[in-house]
Amino acid sequence: MWYTRPDVIHPAPRRFAARLTLVSLMVSLSACVRRSAPIAPTGHTPSSVAAAPPDLGSLRALASTQKRHVGVALATWHFSEPHYQEVAAAQFNSLTPENEMKWESVEPQPGQFSFRAGDALVSFAEQHQMRVRGHTLVWHNQVASWVKRLSGDQLHSAMINHVTASVEHWKGRIAQWDVVNEAIGDDGALRQNSPFTALGPGYIADAFRAAHAADPSAELVYNDYETEGDSGAKSDGMYRLVKELKESGVPIHGVGFQMHVDPRNWPSADSIQRNLERFAALGLFVELTEMDIAVGELPGTPEEKFTRQKQIAHEIVSACLRVPACVGITFWGLTDPQSWLSDEHWGRLRGRGPHFPLLFDANYRPKPVFDGVAQAFRGE
Ligand code: G3I
Repeated sequence: MWYTRPDVIHPAPRRFAARLTLVSLMVSLSACVRRSAPIAPTGHTPSSVAAAPPDLGSLRALASTQKRHVGVALATWHFSEPHYQEVAAAQFNSLTPENEMKWESVEPQPGQFSFRAGDALVSFAEQHQMRVRGHTLVWHNQVASWVKRLSGDQLHSAMINHVTASVEHWKGRIAQWDVVNEAIGDDGALRQNSPFTALGPGYIADAFRAAHAADPSAELVYNDYETEGDSGAKSDGMYRLVKELKESGVPIHGVGFQMHVDPRNWPSADSIQRNLERFAALGLFVELTEMDIAVGELPGTPEEKFTRQKQIAHEIVSACLRVPACVGITFWGLTDPQSWLSDEHWGRLRGRGPHFPLLFDANYRPKPVFDGVAQAFRGE
């Protein structure tokens, strides 16, 4: 596997550009070649082309041997970048829109829906036999500005309308929805900085019921962050919430653990496994929905940071694979520069950057952490 020391990962000086481009082209072509049978423009593998045996060089082929999804968050504004689409399609069998299905994008004005960006991602996924995780219907962040002025019955109605229209639009094309995202605060109670909290705890059940009515075939997920370990107020609060929903007959099918790893303070793989098991014991599936591993504050040389990053990924993916109900792992972006953590505003959440949090470098070359994930899928 090709990768470059981080100190040359960012756009190299011009004199190296030609060489890197050629190398990147070789890697991306090999990534294309590694994809199983060629995908005709219709997205259908023509029967005349015998499906090549799965090439276990790609993460999606390896994940399939474990009956898992391995996914990536994609953004339409990167679609025009060379290699973006081909590497995403070659390596992943699940797609999550990074921003295109959030309220501010889908319903920027009351009752005025804009599905175009989400449609592009869903079409891309269907063309490349990728599952789609819809993200996200009800979240206190990135809501349209008009929603922030609502409260009480008006807010509740707007929420039901938004959930219904969004889910109905993509009915039968989205396998899973993050119906409610990040509703719980650090103390394990509903977070105070969400306008939906004032509706009372019943709003979560109402959102799930509306989503189920709009598309009974979709699997419905509660998704949150820093709930990955098997102890702690927030993780226990999420456990109480989903247990109550499940026992009340609310149509909830799974739980998403975002897995934005902060190596300065993170649960052990054993704690993560025990946590996944306790949620699975409720009769729910579990998924790692937004994985990235920030290395900025890890000690050592760039190589040492990347070695540790590879080890962390291997431990977490292996923990998931030891839990039969842990059915998917999604990485929150494709290449390091495209990560939300490469934005200075967000990166400071993980301390001093750069963080190099994802599987591919700036030139779409797999890093050591890619090998760590692949080795976990191979059971090595
Ligand atoms: O759309 C505007 C654009 O019009 C404007 O020109 C530009 C100016 O900076 O901002 C654009 O909005 C940005 C938006 O992403 C869409 O690109 C926001 O500034 C930016 O803050 C926002 O960041 C997203 C973040 O959620 C917002 O909370 C990240 O891309 C996205 O990766 C991140 O994803 C979240 C998950 O949805 C939920 N879990 C946590 C995860 C990381 O925060």
